Amino acid sequence: MFHVTIKDTYDEVSKEAFKIMKSVLNGDHTPVLGLATGSSPVGLYQEMIKDHKENGTSYKDILTFNLDEYIGLPRDHRESYWTFMHQNLFNYIDIPDENVHVPLGCGEDPEADCRAYEDELSRHIVDVQVLGIGSDGHIAFNEPGCPFDSLTHLMDLTEQTRRDNARFFDGDITQVPTKAATMGLASIMRARKIIMIATGENKADAIKGMMKGPMTVDCPASILQAHPEVYVFLDKAAASKL
Ligand code: GLP
Repeated sequence: MFHVTIKDTYDEVSKEAFKIMKSVLNGDHTPVLGLATGSSPVGLYQEMIKDHKENGTSYKDILTFNLDEYIGLPRDHRESYWTFMHQNLFNYIDIPDENVHVPLGCGEDPEADCRAYEDELSRHIVDVQVLGIGSDGHIAFNEPGCPFDSLTHLMDLTEQTRRDNARFFDGDITQVPTKAATMGLASIMRARKIIMIATGENKADAIKGMMKGPMTVDCPASILQAHPEVYVFLDKAAASKL
């Protein structure tokens, strides 16, 4: 079930998304957070950092699980998702590094690393999973065609996704990794609540497919139609095709 909020600016979208995050942080137990990379959740993370500084919200006992990681980038690479999460959130809150989980993209046996990640994830229930959406309708790195029952797995990235993400790699698609380790669609669907953040016109088709299209692997995000509690935060451009 989708609960949709449409705002004028990215700042307002982020502040609204934070309200759901805050209600989870203030809930009756220490939550497990599912986190995402990409530009969409950065404003939400800034709100979390501000709240930590101003209100002392602590992350000392909180576990986090990130959605995905590029295959082939060392953890300290400037564009690894490990680095992204530290630069945009973890370095500014009091979370111990041992509580942080990001799929390993640089191990010797990436398939075994995916299985180990799913194993660890399956010992917990994610209270809230943050998501962005790719312009091709992907969530995490589950590209079109990915089965709905997928668990953490390796995925070949589509040309469109690599083109979209080339902006982080000096605009050079050849530098963008061709594969990623990603939580599967079934892994994501286990989360109790989902926060989806999308802004900008290039997300409008994907958001339409997610909410109004048929539930099909051609638009992986459409699986969220079957989730009981999805909070969708959009600007007018991303909502323009609804
Ligand atoms: C990447 C990530 C996704 C993210 C998507 C959109 O492909 N793997 O998790 O949702 O990009 O990114 P952005 O928010 O920068 O548009």
